[in-house]
Amino acid sequence: MCGIVGYVGPKSTLDVLIGGLRRLEYRGYDSAGVSVISPTGHLETRKKAGKLVNLVAEIEEHPLPAAHIGIGHTRWATHGAPTDGNAHPHLGGQTQKLSLIHNGIIENFAELKAELLAEGTSFASETDSEVAAHLIAREFEKTGDLPSAFASVVVRLHGAFTILVIHEDQPDVVLAARRNAPLVIGLGDGENFLGSDVAAFVEHTKRAISVGQDEIVILRADSVEVRTFDGKTVTHEEFTVDWDASAASKGGWSSFMAKEIADQPQAVADTLMGRLNSDGSVRLAEIDGLSHEDIKNLERIIIVACGTASYAGDIAKYGIEKWSRIPVQVELSHEFRYRDPIINKNTLIVAISQSGETMDTLMAIRYAKELGAKVLAICNTQGATLARESDAVIYTHAGPEVAVASTKALTAQITAGFLLGLFLASIRGAVPAAELQRVGLDLLKMPGRVSHVIEGLKQAERLGAEMANAKSVLFLGRNVGFPVAMEGALKLKELAYIHAEGFAAGELKHGPIALIEEGQPVIVIVPSPRDEDSLHPKVISNIQEIRARGAKVIAIAEEGDNQVSSYAENVIFVPECETLLAPILTVIPLQAFALALSTAKGLDVDQPRNLAKSVTVE
Ligand code: M6R
Repeated sequence: MCGIVGYVGPKSTLDVLIGGLRRLEYRGYDSAGVSVISPTGHLETRKKAGKLVNLVAEIEEHPLPAAHIGIGHTRWATHGAPTDGNAHPHLGGQTQKLSLIHNGIIENFAELKAELLAEGTSFASETDSEVAAHLIAREFEKTGDLPSAFASVVVRLHGAFTILVIHEDQPDVVLAARRNAPLVIGLGDGENFLGSDVAAFVEHTKRAISVGQDEIVILRADSVEVRTFDGKTVTHEEFTVDWDASAASKGGWSSFMAKEIADQPQAVADTLMGRLNSDGSVRLAEIDGLSHEDIKNLERIIIVACGTASYAGDIAKYGIEKWSRIPVQVELSHEFRYRDPIINKNTLIVAISQSGETMDTLMAIRYAKELGAKVLAICNTQGATLARESDAVIYTHAGPEVAVASTKALTAQITAGFLLGLFLASIRGAVPAAELQRVGLDLLKMPGRVSHVIEGLKQAERLGAEMANAKSVLFLGRNVGFPVAMEGALKLKELAYIHAEGFAAGELKHGPIALIEEGQPVIVIVPSPRDEDSLHPKVISNIQEIRARGAKVIAIAEEGDNQVSSYAENVIFVPECETLLAPILTVIPLQAFALALSTAKGLDVDQPRNLAKSVTVE
C-alpha cells in the first residue's frame, strides 16, 4: 500500500509530485506529503493527514520553493495513526537534512529503534519508517557517502519496503531501494522519475524499467544506475507503457468506478484481441513456455488470488475443469501459503491479480516455485512484480483501474481465465474441438453483450439507490452464479459498509435461510432456463422458499426467461450466452447496484474507508 513518487529534472518538481500522487492516491489516502530541495540547497517538507486535497491546501497556505528534485508519498497507515506527524516524508539525523518516504513494513523496526534511542535519537512519529531515516542520516554523517550509507542501512531492514531518500548535502540525487514492494523507474530526456507504478509518471514518459528485488537505484537528471544490495551493477530491459495518461483520468464521469464499469466492453474486447481466431479456436502465445507435453502432464491447477481476483478464479474454474478436465482448486493466496499444500512439477499455479503487487499472492507463488511448480500469471499491470516472477503471463488488457473496487479488471480476468481453459482443453483433447470452438465463438460476442448490459444499467442503479437504508443485503447463486453472488456481496461491503453475504443457493436450507425475515433484500443470480443441468427450476424453488419468508427478491436473469418475473419483485435481464460465460454479464448489474447504493449514502465510492487498491503488505 502507499504510493511513492520521486523526480529529478528541469520541470516544476511540485507539479510532477502532486500529479503523480494524484494518480497514486488509490494506493492509500490516509495522509500525503512531499519534500523538495530548493535551488539554494534547502530541504523543505509539507505533509498533512487525510486526502491529497489537504496537502494541496497546506502547500497553498505555506508555499514551497521552486525545485528540481523531490519525493512524494501518499499513505495507507500501518504503524501509527493517520496523523500529520505520522505522515511521510520523515526527516532523519540531528540536522534533519535527510528526507525519506517508505512503502511497506519494516518488521525489525523495534530493535533498530531501541539502538537509536540508546544513542539519544529522538523520534517525531510513531512510524517504523522514521527509524530508517535516522539510520541512513547517521551513516551518512559518519562517511559522507550517501549511496553507501543508504546501502548499508537497507540491508539491515527486514520486511517489505520501497524507500526513497533525498539529502540536502547531495541535492542532485534521489536514492531508492526495493524489497518486496514495487518500484518502477520512468526514463525521461534530461529528467528521471520513480514511482510505485507507472501511473506516477505516465503523463511525462512512457519509457519505464521495473526495479528488481533487493536493488538500489541512484537517480539523477541525466543518469540512472541500478545496483544490487551487495553493490553489483545490473541492467534491466526497458519497456513502453501501453496506456495513455488519459486512461487513468475520470474523463467526465462522476467517479473512477463509474468510468471503469463503462470501460468493460473495451476491457473484455482488448483481453480477447489476438487470442481468439475467427473459427473460435484459441491461441495463447504467452504460454509458449509450457510445452504441449507439460500441459498434457498437468495433474492439477491451483489458482491463487485474493478478494475479487479470487472470485475470477472461482468462475474460471468451472470453465477450465469442464473443458480441459484438469482438476482445479482455487485458494486465497494467504491461506494457500501457510497450509503446506501438495505441489509437484505437474501442478500449474495460476496467480490472478490486477495490480500484480498483492503481497499475499506474491508470497504464494514464491512458495509454489520453491516446491517446483510452474507459475502462470493473469495480471493487468505491465512490469508488475507478479509478471516478472512468473514463468508466463497472460495480460488482461483492462487498462488502469483506479477505483479501489475492482470492476473491469474482474471481467477481464474472467475472460482471460476462460481463454486459458479453452487453450488447455484444445491441447488435452478431452472435449471435441467443435465444442470448444462453439464456446470460443460465443466468447467473441461477449464485448457486444457487455455493452448491452451497460446500456441497461438504469434499473440496477435505481434499485441500489432505493436501498440506501438497507442494513443487510444477501446474494444467492448456483454454479457459476455462486462466485458472482460472493462478488456482489464484496462490492457492497467495501463500498456501502453494510452487511452483505453471498451464498450458494443450495446451501440455503443448511443454515442461511434463518437470516430471511420480512423485507430482507436478496439478489438472486438465476441460471439460464436453457441450462442442461436443470439448475433453473432449483433456483426458482429457492426464490419461492425465501419469498415465502418475506424476502424482497431482485433477480438477475437471462433475456427470454419468462418464468422468473412471476417469482421476483424485480428482474434485471442480461443477454443470452453460453451458460458458463454468463458471469461476465451477470456481475455488471451488481457493480452498478453497489455503486448507486454507496452514492445514495453519500460515501466516497472510489476511495472507501480503511482500504487501499493494492495490498502490498501481508
Ligand atoms: O490487485 P489484486 O487483483 O491482486 O487485488 C486483489 C484484491 O485486493 C482486490 O480484488 C480487492 O478485493 C478489491 N478491492 C475488491 O473490489
